[in-house]
Amino acid sequence: MSFGYRATAVAALLAVFGAPAMADELFYVSGATGAAVENFKKYVAPWEAQTGHTVTMVPMPSSTTDQFAQYRLWLAAGSTDIDVYQTDVIWAPQLAEQFVDLTEAAKDVAGNHFPSIIESQTVGGKLVALPIFTDAPALYYRKDLLEKYGVAVPKTWDELTAAAQTIQDGEKAANPDFWGFVWQGNAYEGLTCDALEWVKSFGGGQIVEPDGTISINNEKAAKAIETAKGWVGTISPEGILSYQEEEARGVWQTGNAAFMRNWPYAYALGNGDDSKVKGLFGVTTLPAGSADEKSAATLGGWNVAVSKYSEHQEAAISLALWLSGPEVQKMRALNETNLPTIVSLYDDAEIAEKAPIIPQWKDVFLNAVPRPSAPTLTKYSEVSAKFFNAVHETLAGNGSAADNLAALEADLTDLKGDGWK
Ligand code: GLC
Repeated sequence: MSFGYRATAVAALLAVFGAPAMADELFYVSGATGAAVENFKKYVAPWEAQTGHTVTMVPMPSSTTDQFAQYRLWLAAGSTDIDVYQTDVIWAPQLAEQFVDLTEAAKDVAGNHFPSIIESQTVGGKLVALPIFTDAPALYYRKDLLEKYGVAVPKTWDELTAAAQTIQDGEKAANPDFWGFVWQGNAYEGLTCDALEWVKSFGGGQIVEPDGTISINNEKAAKAIETAKGWVGTISPEGILSYQEEEARGVWQTGNAAFMRNWPYAYALGNGDDSKVKGLFGVTTLPAGSADEKSAATLGGWNVAVSKYSEHQEAAISLALWLSGPEVQKMRALNETNLPTIVSLYDDAEIAEKAPIIPQWKDVFLNAVPRPSAPTLTKYSEVSAKFFNAVHETLAGNGSAADNLAALEADLTDLKGDGWK
C-alpha cells in the first residue's frame, strides 16, 4: 500500500512541477530509403518508453554524398538543431572534431562489435561514432531466368556480361523494359564503391593504398573501367549513368533485370509482398576480373554520432547506445536485412532462419575492401569525388580510361601535397 501511496505522491508532484527535467526532445538525421521513417519509429519506441525522451527522425536524401555536404554545413555552423547524426563508415576522419567522444560511454559495449569496425570509427583515440550496421554488396540474380536460359551463376565479369546478354536477348522481345544488369553509375559515392570493386577484382589496387600511395593509374584498373563502359547501352540502360541504389532496385524489383549489384538491404525489400521478384532470386559474391583474380566487395556501413553542439548530450548518447545495441541491430537484421556489427548476432537462430543472407554474408563483409578514407584523412571526399568523376566521364564516353586515370593520378598527387592530412 505504501508503494501505491508513493506512486500517487510522485504523480501529484509531477502534475505540479511538470514532466521531469530529463524528458528531452531529440532530432536525428538519416538518409531515407524504403520504409526508413516507419522502421525508425519502431526501433526507438522501447527507448522512448523507458527514458521518457522522444526522438524525431528527419529524413535526408538517400545519396551519402548529398548527406555529407549538408551535414558538413550544419556542423561547421555549430547547429544545435540536430542531436544525433547517422554517419557513413567513411566519414569519421573528416567529421571527428564535430562529434562527442563516445569511448567512455561505450566502454562496456564496444567489445561486442567487430574490432575492425570500432577501429574504423576511432580517430586519434577518439570513438567518433557507434556502428548500427555494416554493409557489403551482393550480386543478385534471377534464379528462374538463369534456369530458363540454361545459364550458370557467373564467376567472372565476362561470364556475367555473356549471361546478362543471353537473358536480355530472350526477354526483351516480350518486355522492352528488360535489362541484363543494373548497378550504380551516377557520379556520387556509390560509383566509387562499384568502381573500386571492378578495379580491385581486376588486380588494379585500391585507388590509394593503405600506406597513402596513389595506385589508381595502372593498366588493370583501366581494363576494369573499360569493361564496365562496355555495359552501358548494351546489357545496362544508357540511363544507368544516373542510377543510384534505389533506381537499380526499382528496375530489379519490378522484374525488369536479370542481375543487380546492390547492398543487403535490397534482399528484404525484394522478398516483400509487393515485390515482383519475391522468392525468385538468389545472391552470390560479385564476379572477379578473371578466373585467377578474386571477387571484391566494398566495405560500407552506418553509424551514429552525437553532435558536439547538441543541447541534449546525455539523452543523445543514451540514444546512440540504444541504436547500436543488440535489440535494435536484431530488429534491423530481421526487418531490413542490415548486417549487424555485433558478433554474437551472426549466431542468432531467428536471424539465420528469417534473414539467411546475414550469416551467409559474414565472410563477405569481413573480407571487404575499405575505401581509402583512413589513408587520405580529411581529403577523402575530394579523393572520392575525383575518382567517381573520372570513372563517370569514362563511362559516358568522354575520354579513355587510360587517359582519365592518368589525369586523375596527377590531380590526386596535387591534392596529396606534402602528405594526406
Ligand atoms: C551504402 C553503404 C555506404 C556507401 C553507400 C554508397 O549505403 O553502406 O557505406 O557509402 O552505400 O552509396
